Amino acid sequence: MSPAAALEAYLAAVTVEQLDADPYPVFARIRAVQPVAYVPCVDLWWAVTWDAVEEVASDHRRFAAKPIPSPIDRTFGEPNVLTEDGAEQRRLRRMLDPSFRPRIVEQYAPPLVEPLIAEHLDALAGAGRGELMADYFEPISVISLARVLGLGMLEADTLRRWFAGLAEGVINYESDPAREAIGQATTREVDAVLRPILAEHLRAPDGSTVSAMLQAAEGDLDERLAQVLPTLKVILLGGMQEPGHGAGSVALGLLSNPAQAAAFAADPAGLARQAVEEGLRWISPIGTQTRRVVDATTVGGIPLPAGAGISALLSSANRDEAVWGADADRFDLARTGPVQAAFGYGTHYCVGHHFSRLQVQLAVQRLFERLPRLRLDPDHPPHVQGWEFRAPRTLHVRWD
Ligand code: HEM
Repeated sequence: MSPAAALEAYLAAVTVEQLDADPYPVFARIRAVQPVAYVPCVDLWWAVTWDAVEEVASDHRRFAAKPIPSPIDRTFGEPNVLTEDGAEQRRLRRMLDPSFRPRIVEQYAPPLVEPLIAEHLDALAGAGRGELMADYFEPISVISLARVLGLGMLEADTLRRWFAGLAEGVINYESDPAREAIGQATTREVDAVLRPILAEHLRAPDGSTVSAMLQAAEGDLDERLAQVLPTLKVILLGGMQEPGHGAGSVALGLLSNPAQAAAFAADPAGLARQAVEEGLRWISPIGTQTRRVVDATTVGGIPLPAGAGISALLSSANRDEAVWGADADRFDLARTGPVQAAFGYGTHYCVGHHFSRLQVQLAVQRLFERLPRLRLDPDHPPHVQGWEFRAPRTLHVRWD
């Protein structure tokens, strides 16, 4: 059997459960044979090498943002910034850009995030042990962004429940009815809760992102909500979930290797930037930029039919041995290389990249400064899960 035929047979047996448990061996198996392959359990072509990922994700003329059918559109509604291209995408993105320009973020992010970090560390510090995802990284992630957006009145637990529920709908490439029901129920709840809050923002704008979005939209309240809510849901999922998830992966990478954890603890301020880039490379919180093949084409010599769905696997590009070396699967605080791919490529490159980097750097830095001899709790091993959205679901730690 040829290597390509053997790969096809292997991929025919791959399941979504297997990918959720650990997709990296599957990515490596594909990369060893070809840059792009069809994966039946998700009905998607996957671009897996560094070069193929960049090619697909950077070229919105050959690879359009709207896959058909789109679980993203089913969950968020249309039009949303993520699945539009051209003038409509630029219009929706312009509504968001002012709040997340690097120079603006540098002014408001540290004074916003530092007190939240201190408050959560104060609550944890005396306990000697804790679960960092639910009690530290995720609350800081959701509360800080909620305040930037103008949604600071919402509870952290509500926002955490929302991002988890929206994620079930968005990853549902396999059209699982249970996942679909969770995604749709969350969408209905988000719409109902946000409607009066957004009405108030329209009546009395306060300089927040949501106020600016409503001002930039046109028409009466219902018309403006229809223009704003789908893109706001992109942020309620990606923006709320990923910094917390990314921070958890950075901490897990450090804590999985006591020598690296000790090196980091000796100089958290000096090493925070490097640790965060390596953690986001090692486990990329958002695995893919998923697109539609506009006209039949080839990538890396593999023919792709018109209309097919194709995912540019950022998570696989970030483990490509050809770029990162034979130890690409290892978290290495001293790693050198190109800028990792976790924030994507092209016109849909992450709006919140600078805000996320700053927030995650501060959260990890202050954690190691405050809690001496931080280490994994041997009684509760970390549980890492997901292929489209991958992160530690729990991260139990101890300290002295
Ligand atoms: C570590 C944290 C984060 C990671 C790894 C991440 C990653 C990504 C990636 C890979 C994309 C491209 C998706 C695609 O093209 O299909 C994206 C888009 C986007 N991100 Fe993030 N993100 C993070 C945090 C945030 C935050 C905090 C915000 C808050 C504003 C945000 C807002 C957005 C928006 C609005 C888009 C869509 C942009 C467009 O379609 O033009 N993200 N993000």
